[in-house]
Amino acid sequence: MMRANRKNQKEYTSKMLISRVALRLAAALMIGPLFMITSSLPAQPPTVGFDPASKVFRLDGDGVSYAFGVNPRGELQQIYWGGRLGAADSFPQAQPMPEWASFDASYSTTPQEYAGWGGGLFVEPALKVTFADGNRDLVLHYESHTTRADGIDVVLKDIERKIYVTLHYTMEPQSGILARSATIENREAQPVTVEQAAAAAWALPPAHYMLNYLTGRWAGEWTLTQETIAPGARVIESRRGTTGHQANPWFAIQAGNTDENHGDVWFGALAWSGSWRITVEQDQLDAVRVTGGFNPFDFGYVLHPGERLETPMFYGGYASNGLGGASRKLHRFEIDHILPHRVSADTAPKPRPVIYNSWEATEFRVDEPGQMALAEKAAALGVDRFVMDDGWFGQRKDDHAGLGDWYVNQQKFPHGLKPLIDKVHSLGMDFGLWVEPEMVNPDSDLYRKHPDWVLNFPGRPRSEQRNQLVLNLARSDVRDYVLGLLDKLLTENDIAFLKWDYNRNWSEPGWDQLPPAEQKKVYVEFTRNLYSILAELGRKHPKVELESCSGGGGRVDLGILRYADEVWPSDNTDPFDRLTQQDGFTYAYTPQVMMAWVTDSPHWLNKRSTTLSYRMLSSMQGSLGIGANIAKWNGEEMATAKRLIAAYHQVQPTIVQGELYRLISPRNGSEFSATQTVSRDKSQSVVFAFVHSTQEGRLFPILRLKGLDPAQEYSLSPIEGKARAGTPQVASGAWWMNHGLEMNEGFRGDFQGAAFRLDRK
Ligand code: DGJ
Repeated sequence: MMRANRKNQKEYTSKMLISRVALRLAAALMIGPLFMITSSLPAQPPTVGFDPASKVFRLDGDGVSYAFGVNPRGELQQIYWGGRLGAADSFPQAQPMPEWASFDASYSTTPQEYAGWGGGLFVEPALKVTFADGNRDLVLHYESHTTRADGIDVVLKDIERKIYVTLHYTMEPQSGILARSATIENREAQPVTVEQAAAAAWALPPAHYMLNYLTGRWAGEWTLTQETIAPGARVIESRRGTTGHQANPWFAIQAGNTDENHGDVWFGALAWSGSWRITVEQDQLDAVRVTGGFNPFDFGYVLHPGERLETPMFYGGYASNGLGGASRKLHRFEIDHILPHRVSADTAPKPRPVIYNSWEATEFRVDEPGQMALAEKAAALGVDRFVMDDGWFGQRKDDHAGLGDWYVNQQKFPHGLKPLIDKVHSLGMDFGLWVEPEMVNPDSDLYRKHPDWVLNFPGRPRSEQRNQLVLNLARSDVRDYVLGLLDKLLTENDIAFLKWDYNRNWSEPGWDQLPPAEQKKVYVEFTRNLYSILAELGRKHPKVELESCSGGGGRVDLGILRYADEVWPSDNTDPFDRLTQQDGFTYAYTPQVMMAWVTDSPHWLNKRSTTLSYRMLSSMQGSLGIGANIAKWNGEEMATAKRLIAAYHQVQPTIVQGELYRLISPRNGSEFSATQTVSRDKSQSVVFAFVHSTQEGRLFPILRLKGLDPAQEYSLSPIEGKARAGTPQVASGAWWMNHGLEMNEGFRGDFQGAAFRLDRK
């Protein structure tokens, strides 16, 4: 519903003109509530209102209200963001901050919804432009607005020049998550260069706050970083042309003593897979502002007369029940409103098939007999989907050659892919394939034919990483080539799934087909073309599912998740490291998309040895896959994996689409960790418990469960491991939540795992 709304924007305009007239009339006659509700959906409708007397806009979703208004100077100013207010509550007109001193101009300290750089603005601007005559002053004032059933579009204009900015607000009723973005339009007679464009700015009043954000590196993604918000700016960003491993476009701000389960949390996520920036700043009067959108570093987008620039979407939400409450809202929102709904618009995305992936078993040494042998063993385990990874195409023997040549390697697959695909189908699985379409090895037919197709500055070195260069997807010929090759691949082969990889970041991001002043458009057009390819493939091959991978978790964001059914969170598949990574990942993203493979022991990265049961349980917290060299697995290993895959299949919807409670975090060297998920209808719950390395004989803490129906009876069954002797087999939700679940006394030592399911009687 959210995704369709922006498209339908125009259709709403005439309807909303009528509702604006109605609002004015109501205000004039002084009847009815101050905020007229312009839409009425059955359950928890979003309410969208404008009070012409106070010039205040208000959007309400479940548990959340957001208000902003036009101040007497004409600026659009944030008023309130937090818990839901009464329907009849009203605000007076927004008042700008008084001038604190001659050094602290009101224009800068007033929390504007979307501030232009001009008029003495010292905080992060939402928009910064240079006009053709050298003027760089931009002061945006309210011009007009239209309301929609679920949102508002507000038009701002520079006080003198014809730069128009339309701010889009859409409230999703069930989560209270607000989607914001901006359209910048040049109606001047001369070009204007946009040097900085945010999707939105969010404001919070002075208080003590903690900032949470996700940082990392290759094989070390998803570290939850927490710090006090202090005066100055904390910039989280990617300058890499893509989302990046180092930081992820998500934030959560907690107030005061908020923790996992209690207190106010404001959170946001940017839906953009190119270079991005989120700036969290505390100004000199202690107020906090979060501004995010295109990364302004090396940015420049020339708008010719009549042209527009659309920013990405910046989603923002509020939860009153801690970081756990915030992530549960986000998970639900992602499943219901972001992820592709391939079956039908009103069917939730399916839990992911349990996959087998060949990468860690064979690396580039894939061939028909080897893959067929792996497929047989995978099918015997109860795997649903067999995925052949890198190595099947061109002259790909290692990472030095082949990228760009997407034809089947004849030595490895003399009869094409069909025999392997047929074999996989005959074993009752569907077939998936690895591709990395945005890249090219200099040692490839494609590069020899089109050396000009890569990002480069003519005459300068072309820096290789993993022996590869980045194709300039911003060029329409490159876009058409990539779309064409994938369309052909999917048309000619019965492929159910593509693992779409991207194994380096940008260097020398030149686009020499364009005039020098316009080349920086590459930061926008590359990502837009990526999205357009994915959208077009989705239209032509609606059943083909997609995984976003970038050397692990380098491209995970709400932009790519509109097209990708799942993501590869990290190349680090060590089951112990994964516990912390998965913990971090779930602050921003749902376990539905979190692929987790079971691989071999000792693990290649940490050289750590773990049992197969521990590895299985670690991966079963997300969307399970097997990535080990199962050709070498013995009967006992096959039996363990088969048993746990069958148990996983039974409870997978609860694990990946239920409400997640992080009961004990594995972070900060914790001896223990535990998670619990509860199905949306509270009929089932799954608990995972892990011991890292116990000391001094400490027993596993009692797990006081959450989210169950206290008045209903739930039966406990072990998936792996044992509860303490004497634990009731059936007890009320109240018992499991208040008394709690106790582990068996033997649950001590190193790298142990246990899992239980509770089913409502
Ligand atoms: C990086 C991915 O993250 C791996 O899973 C694997 O697909 C390799 N690329 C293949 O080159």
